[in-house]
Amino acid sequence: MSHCARIIGTGGYMPETIRTNEEISQLVDTSDSWIVERTGIKTRRIAGPEETAASMAEIAATQAIDMAGIDANEIDLIIVATGSPDRVYPSTGCLLQKRLDIKNCVAFDVQAACSGSIFAMSIADQYIKSGAANKVLVVGSEICSRLVDWTDRSTCILFGDGAGAVLLESSGEAGILSTHIHSDASYEDMLYCPNPQVATDSKKDEQGFISMKGSEVFKVAVNTLGRIVDETLEANGLDKSRIDWLVPHQANIRIIAATAKKLKMSMDRVVLTLENQGNTSSASVLLAFNEAVRDGRIQRGQIVLLEAFGAGFTWGSALIKY
Ligand code: COA
Repeated sequence: MSHCARIIGTGGYMPETIRTNEEISQLVDTSDSWIVERTGIKTRRIAGPEETAASMAEIAATQAIDMAGIDANEIDLIIVATGSPDRVYPSTGCLLQKRLDIKNCVAFDVQAACSGSIFAMSIADQYIKSGAANKVLVVGSEICSRLVDWTDRSTCILFGDGAGAVLLESSGEAGILSTHIHSDASYEDMLYCPNPQVATDSKKDEQGFISMKGSEVFKVAVNTLGRIVDETLEANGLDKSRIDWLVPHQANIRIIAATAKKLKMSMDRVVLTLENQGNTSSASVLLAFNEAVRDGRIQRGQIVLLEAFGAGFTWGSALIKY
């Protein structure tokens, strides 16, 4: 096997400040028990006033680079997935390139909402498979807390901030086995975040906050993630019993449990971080992956299924032989 994208480093960063369900119930009409029962979330992290997607990405990326034991200047492509970029432009990828002091590489952002890091891994995989890149840094970094309306109880309970990273290297050994990504914008109104500065007259009253039809999103997410699991297994001629770990997007414990049930996996084979992180959008899958690699749950040679679903709708998976 040549030109396979092997994971040689992982990293993750969560801001220091913890916001509990109790604290949110001081802001909106909700309760710890409602949030825990409906979502599985107990606390989430909130970025400090001077933190940004790029500053958090730098910390996660540096960890991944250190684990891989390479010089940052060996990286020839940086892809940052974010829906909360520091600036409209330059891209957060470019800002990260500067922070990492990489003189000569390509850097850009991918915007696929919560599926962003799976989309970014898919792009990285194509670059490596084709021989166009040798070492690719993929980061998901999000400041969701600044896109959330803290007076809207249907969304503010769900999201958190953080960054996750993986470093991929062209290798003869197995790595990413396949990626599968999809989009369907017929659902654009179910989950969106306006950009008021470029709004048309008819939309100029919209604020730049996440808007979501939660129960509709929930149903589509469960069905769609079930389908992507089938598609991924089929493409690899793999039985579901072969999957060692499921690393799902961390949006809601009930969505994750439905996917695990479809795979006939017990929940102790599912990497869960949402209890203390909430939904960190494009950072979530990479944060969970990093945690399970670093605590030794995910071992070299094991088969890991990553999957995510987000606004667009977008959805995708990556099957990895770690
Ligand atoms: N606290 C208390 N009550 C709340 C509440 C909160 N934080 N948020 C909503 N409610 C109320 C609603 O107003 C509604 O009241 P009503 O019956 O009087 O109208 C009731 O709870 C049920 O609302 P519903 O939206 O049907 O609840 P739900 O069981 O679907 O749970 C979510 C809501 C948001 C937790 C759930 O739909 C969800 O997780 N959806 C997917 C979200 C997601 O994954 N988004 C990101 C995709 S990447």
